[in-house]
Amino acid sequence: MATEHGLTAIPTERTCPFDPPAPLGLLRAQRTVAPFTFPDGHEGWIATGHAAVRTVLTDPRFSHRADLVRPTLAMDRVEIPEVLPGMFTRLDPPEHTRYRRLLGPEFTPRRLAPLVPRIEQIAEEHLEAMVDHGSPVDLVRAFALPLPSLVMCEILGLPYSEHERFQHDSEVLFDLSASEQDTVAAWTSMLDFLTSAVADKRDHPADDLLGRLVADGSCTDGELVTVAMILLMAGHETTSNTLALGTFALLENPAQRAALLADPDTAVEELLRYLTVSHIGPVRTALEDVEVAGRLVRAGQSVTLSLAAANRDPARYDRPDELDLTRDATGHLAFGGGVHLCTGLQLARIELRTALTALFRRFPDLRLAVPAAEVPLRTTMVVYGVHALPVAWA
Ligand code: HEM
Repeated sequence: MATEHGLTAIPTERTCPFDPPAPLGLLRAQRTVAPFTFPDGHEGWIATGHAAVRTVLTDPRFSHRADLVRPTLAMDRVEIPEVLPGMFTRLDPPEHTRYRRLLGPEFTPRRLAPLVPRIEQIAEEHLEAMVDHGSPVDLVRAFALPLPSLVMCEILGLPYSEHERFQHDSEVLFDLSASEQDTVAAWTSMLDFLTSAVADKRDHPADDLLGRLVADGSCTDGELVTVAMILLMAGHETTSNTLALGTFALLENPAQRAALLADPDTAVEELLRYLTVSHIGPVRTALEDVEVAGRLVRAGQSVTLSLAAANRDPARYDRPDELDLTRDATGHLAFGGGVHLCTGLQLARIELRTALTALFRRFPDLRLAVPAAEVPLRTTMVVYGVHALPVAWA
């Protein structure tokens, strides 16, 4: 996997659940941009340093177009169409800009402010249900997954009653080890679910995000289905895993809990940096020759970016491998950067702040119900985190 010149595969196995795979740190210490052989044999690059990753994300000479970017993992599935109408995550400006202009106003702090009491209520209801159930529980199923899932459904105007179906489909689509048959079935099911939802908004106009996009009239139904799928999947898996892994990190570092409750905004930023659940890719392709960190990336060459390694770069952060909830972690790349910077970052911050403070206020003596080494890690998932987090109290 690791050669003296670079990498031939993205390492995913971890020795510590919170630290990026060790070969990435070793590589970063040698060269922040190193050769990387993509699974299709393409000789490209991997960037692991903060400055280099930021450059690739923000320089318009790097493209995210689906027809240019190469898959990073051998098990990336090619059987499902990558380029649907409305797949704005894989477009460059100006095509990409049209969708961001539609979505941007929906996710500003001002627009999200009225949602805060509702998110607090959702958190309290789920914590109450944990009390009723009694210790121990799996925090992923009881709290970390339903909260962002429910919030995303309410924002989009999707029926949460279908949560078991779309959570399952999303899980399969994000599982790099899923069979081709399961992947295609999940893809079809997800598209059917969202196609019905868009048709329903046409028949019953509603003042929710999907309803407003239908009323806006600038997108076809096909585009709206894709946009809804991106938001639903990007909007619950990432937050849910940061929430569950963040709780795990706080259970392993109990001295940090006071800092969380004292200044949740600063604490959440540090958790995002330290955990960086987006652990595979993103990938960009050079449209012309570009020099990055002393390396010449030739036109047509792809660069895979390790956001996790970049966020632990000692050239950017002091004691980068230490979780310090009082540090100023701004400038981290957990939400990416450039034109594809996460659309939902303000929502994610609100959810994480609300959920984590409510959890540790309600259960000040929360602890793991199993040895830390037994917590199942999501190493083969597109979004890193934990599959389950058994917790106990009292
Ligand atoms: C802790 C939570 C989250 C993390 C760590 C995260 C991370 C990321 C990252 C790294 C990217 C950039 C991918 C790239 O450059 O290729 C991204 C993009 C995106 N995220 Fe998030 N995200 C989170 C929460 C959310 C939420 C709550 C939403 C809901 C709206 C959301 C919606 C999106 C969308 C739509 C994009 C694509 C933006 C584009 O291509 O223009 N994310 N996210």
